[in-house]
Amino acid sequence: MIGKLFNATKPTEAKAPAEAAGPKHVAIIMDGNGRWAQKKGKIRTFGHKAGVDSVRAVVRFARQNNIESLTLFAFSSENWKRPEEEVSVLMELFNLVLNSEAKKLNKNGVRLKVIGDVNGFDAKLVEKIHKVEEMTKDNSELVLNIAANYGGRWDIVNAAKQLAAQVKTGEVKEADINEELFNSFTSTAELPELDLLIRTGGEHRISNFLLWQCAYAELYFTDVLWPDFNEDVFQQAVDDFKVRQRRFGLTGEQVVKADG
Ligand code: IPE
Ligand code: IPE
Ligand code: MG
Repeated sequence: MIGKLFNATKPTEAKAPAEAAGPKHVAIIMDGNGRWAQKKGKIRTFGHKAGVDSVRAVVRFARQNNIESLTLFAFSSENWKRPEEEVSVLMELFNLVLNSEAKKLNKNGVRLKVIGDVNGFDAKLVEKIHKVEEMTKDNSELVLNIAANYGGRWDIVNAAKQLAAQVKTGEVKEADINEELFNSFTSTAELPELDLLIRTGGEHRISNFLLWQCAYAELYFTDVLWPDFNEDVFQQAVDDFKVRQRRFGLTGEQVVKADG
């Protein structure tokens, strides 16, 4: 009888919940190198060197998790104000990493792009950057953007300047300027919308990173210092992203209906 009541009709096959979509474009503010080193009684640059291993780990994770684009904040336009010694170690490290990793990135199908005002770097480094960008330009497994001498305000001003130049020549009409066109002049023009921004190191700020691109990004802050960041922490951020409801101004009910 009870069986009849509860089992009157053949139970339909339990439908597995649809796997929530992961982020396509993730950006990371890699913060906390200096404090990590100081906690160990070492000089700050020891932390920058250790941070390179975390960069390798996140690139690996991105490749394995179908992330299309990974944008890493390596050096901000404000970081020039740091002690000369620290800035020069950071430049050296950038150079070394480009040398040691370029071939491996290329072999793994990674396209490397540097976003930021590269004119601020010395000529040799600029040449190397262009060489690696050229070598990897046809790769499509992952776009790895290294933000170096990058500032979000610079990105916006730079886009505005290019747009103004095209209005001046008549290539673009003022009336045709809209968000999509403006976006096409920013340093992330060809990339998917930014889905997830992670900041390590415990601070809750953007520090002039992707200001235009952050409009609807999900923000994830962790106290983990950058050299301690690894695949597990990245996975936690992605899992957290997957259970968030992105409403883009709609009501929750509208979003559920549209997803249904
Ligand atoms: C981030 O770590 C790396 C760069 C800014 C180049 P920090 O060097 O800012 O480390 P903290 O925040 O001082 O610990
Ligand atoms: C942001 O970190 C820049 C990078 C991670 C490259 P900072 O350490 O420079 O940021 P603030 O100064 O704490 O805001
Ligand atoms: Mg910092």
